[in-house]
Amino acid sequence: MPAHNIAALILAAGKGTRMKSDLHKVLHPVGGKPMLHHLLDTVVALAPARTLLVAGAGREQVAAAAPGLEIVTQAEQLGTGHAVMVAREALAGHTGDVIVLYGDVPFIPLSVMQAMLEARHAAPEVGLVVLGFRPADPGRYGRLVQAEDGSLERIVEYKDATDDERAIGLCNSGMMVIDGSRLFGWLSAIRNDNAAGEYYLTDLVAVARAEGRAVAVVEAAEADVLGINSRADLAAAERAFQARKRAEAMDAGVTLTDPDTVFFSHDTVLGRDVSIEPNVFFGPGVTLEDGVTIKAFSHLEGATVRKDASIGPFARLRPAADIGAGSKIGNFVEIKKARLEDGVKVSHLSYIGDAFIGADANIGAGTITCNYDGFLKFETRIGAGAFIGSNSALVAPVTVGDGAMVAAGSVITEDVAPDALAIARGRQASSEGFAKNFRETQAAKKAELKKGK
Ligand code: UD1
Ligand code: MG
Repeated sequence: MPAHNIAALILAAGKGTRMKSDLHKVLHPVGGKPMLHHLLDTVVALAPARTLLVAGAGREQVAAAAPGLEIVTQAEQLGTGHAVMVAREALAGHTGDVIVLYGDVPFIPLSVMQAMLEARHAAPEVGLVVLGFRPADPGRYGRLVQAEDGSLERIVEYKDATDDERAIGLCNSGMMVIDGSRLFGWLSAIRNDNAAGEYYLTDLVAVARAEGRAVAVVEAAEADVLGINSRADLAAAERAFQARKRAEAMDAGVTLTDPDTVFFSHDTVLGRDVSIEPNVFFGPGVTLEDGVTIKAFSHLEGATVRKDASIGPFARLRPAADIGAGSKIGNFVEIKKARLEDGVKVSHLSYIGDAFIGADANIGAGTITCNYDGFLKFETRIGAGAFIGSNSALVAPVTVGDGAMVAAGSVITEDVAPDALAIARGRQASSEGFAKNFRETQAAKKAELKKGK
């Protein structure tokens, strides 16, 4: 099929009332990415000549989120047929196929779109292809009414259907491929004298047939055409998305100890022999190279973890954390915008932000890079092989040289030379026998007081 002659028309002007949201329905994310972008990824793979989106309220939000789209405005939502009708001017002169998609049905596979286009060209008399499916619960979907010979006669909306028609299991997904040279002519024949008082796109079937054109039906799996209308639908879409990502990860050689407790982002990149323990969350932009282990209860976003490194349990990697090969990040460690070279250890209870740490450095428990003065951020540089004693505060901007040591409990405000030892804390003073004396005097005083009572 010459994709260059296809126009994709995405309907998204519905009010989305059931989401109860200020965010346009098609911008609600699944796997961290707006549902519209999931659909657009597939549309891009189809490579149509034009991609248009019909929007009503909230069109600015959609335009801002998808700047490449041609947006057509449907000021009043008078039905799916009317929604297509408003694209008439924008599509003037387009004689190829028009594939009608729904912005809130984001996971329709490319293979299904292609099957619809093939069906449209399987025989010269086919002018229209409807995507049907057989849902477990046909509910209020439109029903596909077949003629004696099995061909599609018309689509009847649930509201307008008789009991016999409602008993039909084959339903309308809403998606169609239509001969673009006839589309707008057919649409002008549609009326809104139905139960909803709407212009139904589905009435095209009867119109096309009346003109002697054949209508084909392609059947999809229910999961491929699931619409998202409510927060519950959104959660169900997320579950399905996560199930797919987990299966893909395991197929690619990743161990998931308890797959159902690991949450991926749409763009999580996983190497071979990565191992992920239970209860791990991936925000956008994470890459794990081969052999990486992520231990339980870790939260990662915008981070790169290089070969064979180990993260967690209970670790947090924030954007621009870049963890070198073989490094170890332990429990209750937070890392942000920091490049750690290979073999670095940050094993316990630390905050590392706006930092560079050279290879094989050891960062003691409770080390904090003090990167922020309330207004600006500053960098901490720690050299290769350096040793930072526990509970140290490194007040940026500051550099600790290669091979240098920082004594535990130090507050480092000045650069430390390579291979030097820096101690920056109160010097210890001890008083011989003080504790014993103190205990005895205080115990005696207390006994005196008790007697007096
Ligand atoms: C429609 C179909 C029904 C099918 C169902 C599948 C018609 C008449 N009915 O029903 O047969 O089973 O989808 O979900 O087509 N939209 C607009 N402008 C409008 C109305 C709708 O852009 O004026 C968009 C919506 O944003 C949505 C899509 O069209 O993406 C479908 O609208 P919706 O109201 O959900 O369709 P139904 O009437 O439920
Ligand atoms: Mg409707």
